[in-house]
Amino acid sequence: MPGPLFLYAICGSLRKASSNRALLEALHDLAPPEVTIEICDLLGDLPIFNPDREARDMPASALALAAKIRAADGLIISSPEYAHGVPGGLKNALDWLVSRDEIPHKPVMLVHASHRGDFALDALTEVLKTMSVRLVEETSFRINLLGKTPEQRQAILADPEIRAILVENLQRFVQAITWIETAR
Ligand SMILES: Cc1cc2nc3c(=O)[nH]c(=O)nc-3n(C[C@H](O)[C@H](O)[C@H](O)COP(=O)(O)O)c2cc1C
Repeated sequence: MPGPLFLYAICGSLRKASSNRALLEALHDLAPPEVTIEICDLLGDLPIFNPDREARDMPASALALAAKIRAADGLIISSPEYAHGVPGGLKNALDWLVSRDEIPHKPVMLVHASHRGDFALDALTEVLKTMSVRLVEETSFRINLLGKTPEQRQAILADPEIRAILVENLQRFVQAITWIETAR
């Protein structure tokens, strides 16, 4: 049984009714008691990244994001695809972190709420690898919530087979983090 773990979940969509956020909320609700998942609400507060501000004038929201990532044992990222790319808000958040020491070697689980979006997933994978995260690829999965109403989504996420996918991948991610932390 692993000790308490803190996972920080980042959604690439700022939409209130985001399906990617719904997927992260489902993971949050299914987490075992020793695992806390907090969903990031900072992406919409971040100014556009400016390297001039990194050294002495980091915005408070970027510092708050960096602090959450430092405190996290792992990150869960779920993002839509916009125009065959990574949404600007998510890329902007990653840009604020790119020269800092919070993100390298951080275990990351990449999930996705659509059967489409491979351009964004490939681009995000490349960005994350370039930032030296520890992408735990065997825990990546997608659940197709694209175009579903909130009621349909709820039904999909409550389906026992889908819940099993979420629980199994979360368990695998927790196990991977435990191995990584033990090996350190
Ligand atoms: C501006 C914009 C651009 C989009 N571009 C793409 C795209 O290139 N490929 C795709 O598969 N879906 C695209 N979509 C659809 C979204 O990726 C899809 O609706 C996604 O499920 C939305 O995620 P969310 O529910 O978490 O906000 C786009 C949506 C928007 C708003």
